[in-house]
Amino acid sequence: MTDRYAAFAHSGAGRFIVKRLGLPDPPKLRRYESGAEFGPITLGGSGRLADPTRQILDKLPPAAAGADERSAALIFDASGITGSAQLRELYDFFHPVIRSLRPSGRIVVLGSPPELCTSAREATAQRALEGFVRSLGKEAGRGTTAQLVYVAPGAEEATESTLRFLLSGRSAYVSGQVVRIGPATVDVPDDWDQPLVGKTAIVTGAARGIGAAIARVLTREGAHAVCLDVPAAGEELAAVANEVKGTALQLDLTAEEAPRRLADFIATRHVHADIFVHNAGITRDKTLGRMDEGQWSSVLEVNLTSQERINDVLVAENLLGGDGRIVSVSSVAGIAGNRGQTNYATSKAGVIGLVQATAGAVAEHGLTINAVAPGFIETKMTAAMPMFVREGGRRLNSMAQGGLPVDVAETIAWLANPASGGVNGNVVRVCGQSLLGA
Ligand SMILES: NC(=O)c1ccc[n+]([C@@H]2O[C@H](COP(=O)([O-])OP(=O)(O)OC[C@H]3O[C@@H](n4cnc5c(N)ncnc54)[C@H](O)[C@@H]3O)[C@@H](O)[C@H]2O)c1
Repeated sequence: MTDRYAAFAHSGAGRFIVKRLGLPDPPKLRRYESGAEFGPITLGGSGRLADPTRQILDKLPPAAAGADERSAALIFDASGITGSAQLRELYDFFHPVIRSLRPSGRIVVLGSPPELCTSAREATAQRALEGFVRSLGKEAGRGTTAQLVYVAPGAEEATESTLRFLLSGRSAYVSGQVVRIGPATVDVPDDWDQPLVGKTAIVTGAARGIGAAIARVLTREGAHAVCLDVPAAGEELAAVANEVKGTALQLDLTAEEAPRRLADFIATRHVHADIFVHNAGITRDKTLGRMDEGQWSSVLEVNLTSQERINDVLVAENLLGGDGRIVSVSSVAGIAGNRGQTNYATSKAGVIGLVQATAGAVAEHGLTINAVAPGFIETKMTAAMPMFVREGGRRLNSMAQGGLPVDVAETIAWLANPASGGVNGNVVRVCGQSLLGA
């Protein structure tokens, strides 16, 4: 689905009219490019995270000679802030430099999780960072993203995969997010462009849309993709699996025997799978009074119950190896709610509950479980929306445009990275900082 308004706004005449009338001005977002440089990056603050962060920045590909000298990213280590008066350090660092940040710039504030702070004053100041980052994301414009990363004490060395993701074009449509990183043994990949070499990734609902994009990105990152979808989507599924040189697996996830078939497939074909992405999902929209029982239960079964049943067998039969990754696709509808989607929003909020309720238990097996919550993504699902609802969804976010399936896929690839072991139990919105549920 093409965004005709954005195409118009980027044209010569369109740019003029958009400016004169003060209409939404969707910027061209910087997305992933192989070998893209990161710099220059300006780092401020003097907490416990400044030195480990500097060491990571030193490893990133530097800006090419003659490149734009404006900062591509601003990072502030706020972990040394222990009281509200010190929040002034945010103003002192960002005020002089914020207006010279490049388009599609990156802002990252690093802090300590308030719940782990040793005094109420410190917890208060650390919690305050959230309002700062979310506001900066909303006012910076021009495709800039802003995030807050809470790093637990002891997790200082576990931040690299997250910083690389947030600073790069991979996080183009992720903004206003709070990421929590806990202590973990970090498995640093030999090649950050191909961190998934030797890994097997199973992606459900991979015949089209976001699932197909996930299979493509995980393959680009080096994984072998097992593309799973219903038998009725067999032809499209085979095309995606062939394109990524992966494996096609036809299976209806709601079938009684689905978890058993999946477990047997993994055990016999791959011994274990390293990454499991629960992406398959359906909508059956109706206001509650007009919704029939089948519309309620089919959405709950596909979007939530099948994930619970599959996770149970993956963990109980140790099918994800020692450092497996489970990533579930939720939705902003599960956070904000949506008219006509009581069934869908229940299922997607349930996915968030599943991630939060099981993160501790899966960590004991060396696994992580996280969710992404997409906002408005340009797919067949959103193309089918009524025009006014679609335009609202597209523009009511800090990027003034819909995201692309690849934006969701890149976020999943970060969570699936072997170096993301400290990222567990997180729900990351891929919504361009949507106003809904913010
Ligand atoms: N498109 C968006 O804007 C958006 C926003 C938020 C969340 N999401 C979520 O992202 C995921 C992918 O969305 P999409 O837009 O690509 O949807 P889509 O309808 O294009 O693709 C979903 C895929 O899931 C498969 N599937 C459905 N039921 C299945 C079953 N029982 N067993 C196996 N496979 C099954 C379908 O055949 C289809 O190929 C869904 O979970 C959706 O709820 C999408």
